[in-house]
Amino acid sequence: MTDYNTVVKTIPVTRTGDVITMGVTSAVWARLHAPVTPPLPIGKPFLPSAEHVKDDRFLQLYPQTRRSQGDIAHKAFEEGSHPQMVEGISSPTRGANVTDLFSPYQLGSLKLTNRLVMAPLTRNRAGAGEAPTELAAEYYAQRAGAGLIISEGTQPCAIGQGYPHTPGLHTDEQVAGWTLVADAVHARGGRIVAQLMHAGRISHHAITGLRPVAPSAITPAGEVYTEQGMKAFEAPRALEAAELPGVVAEFVDAARRAVRAGLDGVELHAANGYLLQQFLADGSNIRTDGYGGSPQNRARFVVEVATAVAQAIGADKVGIRISPGGTFNNVTETETEQTYTALLDALNPLGLLYLHILEGPDTSFHEQLRKQWDGTVMFNTGFTGSSDLSTAQEAIDTGATDLFCIGRGFLANPDLVERLRIGAGLNKPDMETFYSGGAKGYTDYPVLSA
Ligand SMILES: Cc1cc2nc3c(=O)[nH]c(=O)nc-3n(C[C@H](O)[C@H](O)[C@H](O)COP(=O)(O)O)c2cc1C
Repeated sequence: MTDYNTVVKTIPVTRTGDVITMGVTSAVWARLHAPVTPPLPIGKPFLPSAEHVKDDRFLQLYPQTRRSQGDIAHKAFEEGSHPQMVEGISSPTRGANVTDLFSPYQLGSLKLTNRLVMAPLTRNRAGAGEAPTELAAEYYAQRAGAGLIISEGTQPCAIGQGYPHTPGLHTDEQVAGWTLVADAVHARGGRIVAQLMHAGRISHHAITGLRPVAPSAITPAGEVYTEQGMKAFEAPRALEAAELPGVVAEFVDAARRAVRAGLDGVELHAANGYLLQQFLADGSNIRTDGYGGSPQNRARFVVEVATAVAQAIGADKVGIRISPGGTFNNVTETETEQTYTALLDALNPLGLLYLHILEGPDTSFHEQLRKQWDGTVMFNTGFTGSSDLSTAQEAIDTGATDLFCIGRGFLANPDLVERLRIGAGLNKPDMETFYSGGAKGYTDYPVLSA
């Protein structure tokens, strides 16, 4: 492991007239492109002076710079992404007031060892009774170096299952399986919450034996994977208003079971076109009762679920994932801004553990939501951009988010945090084994020391 408080090595600078800089990440450096003034010493350790950190370009791109004055960010030379980087130099004040991807973060009552979060990843490897197995416990324990793990989407009730062999949290057998997982992750010093995912209309009777339910009887376009092959989505049944408290109760029961299993909390999956987003989106919710018709009404069911779950297990054990404007699973939203603003207005007073935003095309709207949210924010690219180190570092450094969530990087690299910390290469994810394959592509990705 690199000790940043010592000078490890310097890389000779070959071009004269160039300047080097530290105290910024390589992402920021790469975007500066021009020398900063006054020029910085070449190939030598240095401490940025007040003059350097007052440079407009620093402040524009790196708002924390003023506060981090005197410290030297380390990622730039760790990544070695610029030939003029000096490697392995630090300052006496490292970490003083600086937001660092690898520094601890207090999330509610959970002390996270770093700010990198493992994204929820469906892996379709549940055992008998759709319960997590010893193998799942091993898989999650291998990834306990994440600041926080969010489990794969987990159905709170049988009809909420969206894919074959996804785990549930509605039977005692499943609680026993999750207990294996929670114990294994905790034994390695990790933290883990269960993502509660009710698929709604993105399900199929070939998976559950039941006709899918939804806010409105609108069949999504597309196909779903079943054990009998791909099948067209089928027409869902619109939930009666009188049934909704029962669905809320299923979320509450699953959350209680998550806590009973020893998990650190739950994440409500209100993203990616599953049941909760189906309520938020006007393309899938054309209800004429109190749960449809206006942004506030479309947000109502999600707020009711969040409120009830928070009351049952404590708001500091409940996070929520949203994908404003996302179109995955054939959802369409026309009043995105109004709907999510209304949602956050109603959720803010609950004091939830975190808000998890999947980025979409409109990143300025995410900045607005970040400002609107009173608590911790977590970002994931939602497949729209890169989850690499410099993106994560910049998102944290600029204060765009508090925590950064990575999916495929963790899938393929059990020791992702350590690899990023020391700038090691990464294993590539094997798509063939994303959704099947037993231990292959699940627990057999190599770690650095292996
Ligand atoms: C194999 C796989 C399974 C996924 N399963 C889920 C899931 O269960 N719940 C969810 O909210 N997102 C799921 N996602 C989306 C990821 O959480 C994440 O948003 C996505 O991988 C983009 O992040 P990345 O670029 O860091 O991989 C899945 C993604 C992949 C690749």
